[in-house]
Amino acid sequence: MSNLHIINHPLIQNKLTRLRDINTKNHNFRLLLEELTAFMVYEITRDYPLRDVEVTTPLETMTGKVLDTPVVLVPILRAGTGMLGGVLDLIPTARVGHIGLYRDPKTLKPVEYYAKFPRMLREAHVILVDPMLATGGSAIVGIDILKREGATKIQFLCLVAAPEGVKAFSDVHPDVPIYTAALDRELNEHGYILPGLGDAGDRIFGT
Ligand code: PRP
Ligand code: URA
Repeated sequence: MSNLHIINHPLIQNKLTRLRDINTKNHNFRLLLEELTAFMVYEITRDYPLRDVEVTTPLETMTGKVLDTPVVLVPILRAGTGMLGGVLDLIPTARVGHIGLYRDPKTLKPVEYYAKFPRMLREAHVILVDPMLATGGSAIVGIDILKREGATKIQFLCLVAAPEGVKAFSDVHPDVPIYTAALDRELNEHGYILPGLGDAGDRIFGT
């Protein structure tokens, strides 16, 4: 699974364990999710290209560097929005698109209900975010939609992935890297990741 990248940084693993804990309540869950996302984004943007700009310090003028390519962040509604703040803290100039999907509880297939994107999607680095990669259906459709809209430089960022989802995603979109903080054991019969962290949307929003 060459497009899978597990980010094992100790600070990420430490926060992920607290995120998984059933005793972590909504408020702390949201905070941890944002902090974790910021650490992950720091790691996955390492190779973003830079360009030279002239900058004047209080003492003299020099050549500094800035990001050369716009960044578009696309959360999958709902749970992906819990990761927004973490990315925007690090890349305040990022634009934000939205993809609305929910899993039909019987079929576990994603149902699309919303899609809206900033105009520079085609030339941007696009990060699709969703905390969970379970069967892979939502992420696969999310990438389908981004490609349909013309995005070419796409990364998928989640926090917990199941082997079943990674395989399904890699079969359909081998060109898109998956970044996760953990590859868990398996899915249960309801499509929940084991050991996982439960229903991410419910834990973020207290539903
Ligand atoms: C969750 C999660 C992913 C999806 C993952 O969302 O946030 O979007 O399930 O499962 P999959 O890999 O099997 O598609 P859910 O459909 O529960 O919607 P929500 O974010 O509105 O709670
Ligand atoms: N969606 C979640 O929120 N959690 C899971 O374990 C699987 C899908």
